Amino acid sequence: PATTRTFPEGFLWGGATAANQVEGGYLDGGKRASIQDVMPQGIVGPPVSEPTDGPLNLKHDAIDFYHRYVEDIALFAELGFSVYRFSIAWSRIFPKGDEETPNEEGLAFYDRVLDELEKHGITPLVTISHYETPLHLAKTYDGWVDRAMIGFYERYARVLFERYGSRVKYWLTFNEINAVLHAPLMAGGIWTPKDELSAKDLYQAIHHELVASASVTRIAHEMDPELKVGCMVIAMPAYPLTPDPADVLKVQTFERSNYAFGDVHCRGEYPGYFLRTLREEGVDLEITDADRETLTHTVDFVSFSYYMSVCQSADPAKQIKGEGNIMGGVPNPTLPASEWGWQIDPIGLRKVLGDYWDRWNKPLFIVENGLGAKDQLVDDPGAPGGKTVHDDYRIDYLRDHLLQVREAIDDGVNLLGYTWWGPIDVVSASTAQLSKRYGFIYVDRDDSGSGTLARYRKKSFGYYQGVIASNGATL
Ligand code: BG6
Repeated sequence: PATTRTFPEGFLWGGATAANQVEGGYLDGGKRASIQDVMPQGIVGPPVSEPTDGPLNLKHDAIDFYHRYVEDIALFAELGFSVYRFSIAWSRIFPKGDEETPNEEGLAFYDRVLDELEKHGITPLVTISHYETPLHLAKTYDGWVDRAMIGFYERYARVLFERYGSRVKYWLTFNEINAVLHAPLMAGGIWTPKDELSAKDLYQAIHHELVASASVTRIAHEMDPELKVGCMVIAMPAYPLTPDPADVLKVQTFERSNYAFGDVHCRGEYPGYFLRTLREEGVDLEITDADRETLTHTVDFVSFSYYMSVCQSADPAKQIKGEGNIMGGVPNPTLPASEWGWQIDPIGLRKVLGDYWDRWNKPLFIVENGLGAKDQLVDDPGAPGGKTVHDDYRIDYLRDHLLQVREAIDDGVNLLGYTWWGPIDVVSASTAQLSKRYGFIYVDRDDSGSGTLARYRKKSFGYYQGVIASNGATL
């Protein structure tokens, strides 16, 4: 039979952003710096010591969502969003991270954001921690290496659930939690440089994050059983470069290094293959009985980002790291790539959906997918604001991926929704550029920080609007 034309009733359509990549106002309203404020080159260059040091950091002002959220949310409403994923900047709520009492001005900002979303009938999906650990926690505690972080994070999450729990039903604990293996500062707030970090400290930090994630899942459920808490992982399916069984085994090892995070979140304990890795690395993890009990509080759903797949080879000489592809791998000779070398693979998304559903049997949520590209803003007297971008490449990417999503749904996958990454141009996480644009909405700001910050609708804006309005029928 032909595939289902539309998506399931009530399917959530929308977009996703993170505070540090859109808000700006990095010291406004009592906020203090996060690790992002000392990462002017993302993860492709070293951090600086103080926010004012080194090259221009575009995240300090980002796209000024902090002052323009009313206008931006109105544009999301015009697109037809039924869901908007955003993160709360931890350092707006607890500016240093280890205070006893939260910063009221920070809390009030997100009240206002939620007011706007409610006005437009948009469901919020909130990431509690999206690559923006307060800088003080990174420098004073070495981030998640220190067990004390669990308590700070629990206090922060409890404040969020108390304040917003009646208005926000969907929560994500950590953005791309498996990224900590590869980018310890960005994902784990770990100040020790990666090449000086011991395996013991890295895995202890991972353990602390996993315990914290399970702990706030329990807290949310105790406070309100209606709250739905999900984990969030980078999905990067791997293919063997050749049919050599050694390459196939390499794929399994690579995929398990990612699956481990979902396995703990969904099954409530460490899988045997992960414990073996610890043994082989000589890591004697400190796991208390209380930790073990906490880990049994499993998530309600699994969310993930999907941008690309990768090949794996048993031959170490073939391994490379693409710009910003933090996991590395081997390029796939059959696939095209974005200008940043991220390989475009719509079928890989269908594979991920099937694999995750078969493995965990939890509802899934695609909370990031998108194409970073260089856009050309051109005059168009017919367009609102007189300018647009002819981004057919972005339309193609979106259509090709959603067609595969529909296939997976036809295969029986329970999928809650889809949020495109960066529906409005944002500052890139890996490279800290604005020229790596994902949006349906163009923001007039360039990599030197110049621009009016005006917003313009790209051609893809109308396309996505039509897809949402028809619940996928016009793909
Ligand atoms: C994910 C992150 O890794 O990918 C986002 O959760 C990020 O924060 C997105 O922006 C796209 O990556 P990049 O490096 O192109 O911004």
